[in-house]
Amino acid sequence: MPPMTRRAALSTLAVGAAGLALAPAAGAAPAGRITKAIPGADARIPVIGMGTWQTFNVGDDPALRAARTEVLATFLALGGGMVDSSPMYGSSQAVVGHARAALKGKAPLDRLVSADKIWTRDGDETVEQLDETARRWGVERFDVMQIHNLLAWPAHLETLRRLKAEGRVRYIGITTSHGRRHADLARIMAREPIDFVQLTYDITHREAEKRLLPLAAERGIAVIVNRPYDGGASVTRLKRSGAKVPPWAAEADIRDWPGFLLKWIVSHPAVTVAIPATTRVDHMRENMAAGYGRLPDAALRTRMAQHIASL
Ligand SMILES: NC(=O)c1ccc[n+]([C@@H]2O[C@H](COP(=O)([O-])OP(=O)(O)OC[C@H]3O[C@@H](n4cnc5c(N)ncnc54)[C@H](OP(=O)(O)O)[C@@H]3O)[C@@H](O)[C@H]2O)c1
Repeated sequence: MPPMTRRAALSTLAVGAAGLALAPAAGAAPAGRITKAIPGADARIPVIGMGTWQTFNVGDDPALRAARTEVLATFLALGGGMVDSSPMYGSSQAVVGHARAALKGKAPLDRLVSADKIWTRDGDETVEQLDETARRWGVERFDVMQIHNLLAWPAHLETLRRLKAEGRVRYIGITTSHGRRHADLARIMAREPIDFVQLTYDITHREAEKRLLPLAAERGIAVIVNRPYDGGASVTRLKRSGAKVPPWAAEADIRDWPGFLLKWIVSHPAVTVAIPATTRVDHMRENMAAGYGRLPDAALRTRMAQHIASL
C-alpha cells in the first residue's frame, strides 16, 4: 500500500466499514497504525483493542446484533486487533461469535486477537468452560485466555499451562479491575509464568504505576488496560464540559478527548493495549483514531495529566 496520511487512511477505511462492504482479509497493516511487541514473543499487537462487557450483551435481538456487528466491522477495518470478553458478560461472547460469522469474507477477521477468560470457582471446570467459550465464539483456539479476577487461579493456571503447551491457548493471562487486589496480583506476577496481565489504569486512576506496571516491564508481561474511560465517565464528562483539547496535544497527533485519554494510557512504556468498549460506530472511529500517529513522550504525558487535573 502506498504511504497515506493518517487522516486519509482512516477516512478510506471508515467509508468501507459504514456499509460493511469491506475488503476481504487484507494482509497489509494500515499505514501509521501503532503496535506494541508482546514481550518474549515474536509478535506485535495494535495498541487499541475493544472490550465487550455490557456493550455486546444484547441477547438475541437481530437489530442490536446487526448494530454490534457493524461496530466489530469498523474496529477491524480500522486495524483493530484485540477483542476481550468473558463468560461473565451475559450474551457478549455469543454476540461476538454472531458478528464473526456474519463478517466472514467481508472483514479482515485474521486481524482479530481473541482474548477471553475463565470465570468459575470450580478449579476442575477450566476445560469445560473454555470449550463452551470456543463454541460461542466459533473458534478452536484462543490467543489470550485469562483468569477472570483471580478466581480459583492456582487450579486454572495449572490447566491453562497444559492447554498452552497443547496449542489450544497461545498466551495465558490474569485480570483484575477497579484497582482491586493489586498486592495479590503482584505476588502472582512475580512468581508465576504468565504472559498477560489485565488491570485498570487511566489518567486519574494511576495506582498501577506504583507496583504492577514496573513489575510487568521487569518480568516481561504484556499489559491489557481495562476501563480506559473509567466506564465511560471520563470521556463523557470531558465531551460534555465543552472544554477544548489543548492545541499542544497535536504534538502527539491528539485532536479529541478520546484520543487524549487513550494515547495517555498506551504511551506508558509497560502498557501493551487498551480495550475501550462501545456500542457505537462513531465512537469506535474516535477510539481507533487513537491507535494512529505519534504517542506522547514522558514530558507530554506529565503535561496532559496536569491539564486534566486542572479542569
Ligand atoms: N475484571 C476484568 O477482567 C474487567 C473488568 C472491567 C472491564 N473489563 C474489560 O474492559 C473493557 C472496557 O471496560 P468498560 O467497558 O468497563 O469501560 P470503558 O471502556 O472505560 O467505558 C465504556 C463506556 O465508554 C463509552 N464510550 C466508548 N467510547 C466512547 C467515545 N469515543 N466517546 C464517548 N463515550 C465512549 C461507551 O458508551 P457508548 O456505547 O455510548 O460508546 C461505554 O459506556 C470491558 O468491556 C471488558 O472487556 C475487564
